Amino acid sequence: MKLIGAVLMAAALIAAVAPASEAAIKCGTVFSYLNPCIPYVTEKGPLGKCCGGVKGLYGVVKTIPDKQSVCNCLKSLAGSTSGVNYSKAAGLPGQCGVNIPYKISPSTDCSKVVN
Ligand SMILES: *[C@@H]1O[C@H](CO)[C@@H](O)[C@H](O)[C@H]1NC(C)=O
Repeated sequence: MKLIGAVLMAAALIAAVAPASEAAIKCGTVFSYLNPCIPYVTEKGPLGKCCGGVKGLYGVVKTIPDKQSVCNCLKSLAGSTSGVNYSKAAGLPGQCGVNIPYKISPSTDCSKVVN
């Protein structure tokens, strides 16, 4: 556990000193974490491995620019995936026991994500 702590600390330090323009997380990364959630939010399957993805993503997204880019990725994912039940999508963080301070919805204003 100590090693993991040290690695996380190093990652946090690297993230803290990285230029803002490179800090933003890529949508491909967001999608690969959240892929297991697609069946659930489109009413086609169970929660399955979804929470593992949500928690994994939550664990790597720390900075505000990262959160804003994740927010934008979620918006475009929600907008481009047909049949998403937004009440299920919005309930996902709660289902998985993580706190995401904005709603996953195509109408979310990602520039207001500040914490
Ligand atoms: C969306 O999910 C909610 C909560 O599970 C459910 O009550 C509602 O009927 C679903 N809506 C649609 C359109 O399937």
